[in-house]
Amino acid sequence: MTSSAVEVIKAKRDGGRLSGEQIDWMVASYTSGAVADEQMAALAMAILLRGMEPEETARWTQAMIDSGDRLDLSGSGRPLADKHSTGGVGDKITLPLVPLVAACGAAVPQLSGRGLGHTGGTLDKLESIPGWRASLSEKEIREQLAEIGAVICATTPTLAPADRKLYALRDVTGTVESVPLIASSIMSKKLAEGTDALVLDVKVGSGAFMKTPEQARELATAMLDIAAAHGLRCAALITDMSVPLGRAVGNALEVTESVEVLRGGGPPDVVELTVRLAREMLALVGLGPPGGPDPAEVLASGAAYPVWREMITAQGGDPDAPLPVAGTVEPLLADRDGVFAGWDAYPVGVAAWLLGAGRARKEDAVDPAAGIRLLVDPGEPVAAGQPLLELHTDRPDALEGARAALAGAAWFAEDTPAPGTGTAAGIATGAGAASGTGAAAGEKRPPLVLAALGTQT
Ligand code: URA
Repeated sequence: MTSSAVEVIKAKRDGGRLSGEQIDWMVASYTSGAVADEQMAALAMAILLRGMEPEETARWTQAMIDSGDRLDLSGSGRPLADKHSTGGVGDKITLPLVPLVAACGAAVPQLSGRGLGHTGGTLDKLESIPGWRASLSEKEIREQLAEIGAVICATTPTLAPADRKLYALRDVTGTVESVPLIASSIMSKKLAEGTDALVLDVKVGSGAFMKTPEQARELATAMLDIAAAHGLRCAALITDMSVPLGRAVGNALEVTESVEVLRGGGPPDVVELTVRLAREMLALVGLGPPGGPDPAEVLASGAAYPVWREMITAQGGDPDAPLPVAGTVEPLLADRDGVFAGWDAYPVGVAAWLLGAGRARKEDAVDPAAGIRLLVDPGEPVAAGQPLLELHTDRPDALEGARAALAGAAWFAEDTPAPGTGTAAGIATGAGAASGTGAAAGEKRPPLVLAALGTQT
């Protein structure tokens, strides 16, 4: 044994820099069980409070990769491009993006997770499709990449097992919100997966993990530093999550909206972000315009939709099967006339979660039909009594809590003195006003892409 856990904990507690050997030993010993949960929890807290230098974070990431196997997904004959989103309300972009990028000539190995809390997980969304299977073997992933170029599936059990164990520990010890630990957690899985290029969608706003642009930039920079240290082609967009993406929040509802986008329609913000991320992914692997296809044209033409159908079918799903529908659908009415300016993302995510779309503990099941459909776009005039959104649930007793969560969550242009300082009011059940960011009088929607780091387009 080259170190003791207590020495490592004390070194970081006192603001020191951990050696590569200490990091390797600590991560490996925690994975094997030689270092106890309480010791790793103490170190995670010390890291949260003291931070890590980029070199420490890069080494920590490598140690997490080395705790398991690296996948070998080469051999599809196409370059591999992937993306990671830090998650947000109504963020279904992976669903249209993966078939779109495959339709443009790259292969996308999207190894995803399930949702916890108010943001939905990609696998939860796809599991609302009858028959669809999330777990694939490495061989099945390779074959599907070669045949279709598009895979969305669960991470394999041997991919960065240290991260799985550590993330569960951080979740119950108040240590999730450490930039080096978040960055190394995300990047260890992407590096172990073996993609050739990665685009990061770092969300900022009330519905995101990162609440301020400064925090989002710090996380994006930490992940880009790890990518650079590991020789991975990587770019990052910082994108708005002050209002929900699109008009659907909830698993089956988001699948339906994604299919609309794949057929050439859908909400403009979902289309815009899908195309922008596709451009970045294709540019990183040398397949973008001017030499390659323009993803905006490919998406608008519906040419990515057959790839979606193949991808769903290959994983046992029936792309034509009706999706689950909630037993109870109730409107939420405006209590005033005005120009609607947008929804605050976080309460919409919480309300969808209360209706059954999300889980409180990772063992919980989600209700595929539950969620929220937004009925009014920012900039539209509304009249008192007009439905602003629909609540979908199979648990009618959850409606009251969802309505309470949404009280004060709608912004009206009249109450919005300036961009980024909106005041919310105006829901029939609402009591009082809440302040928010993002929506401005007369604006359709806050700008989606707020910053681009290391991007090519
Ligand atoms: N997502 C991850 O994969 N890891 C984190 O630490 C946070 C979000």
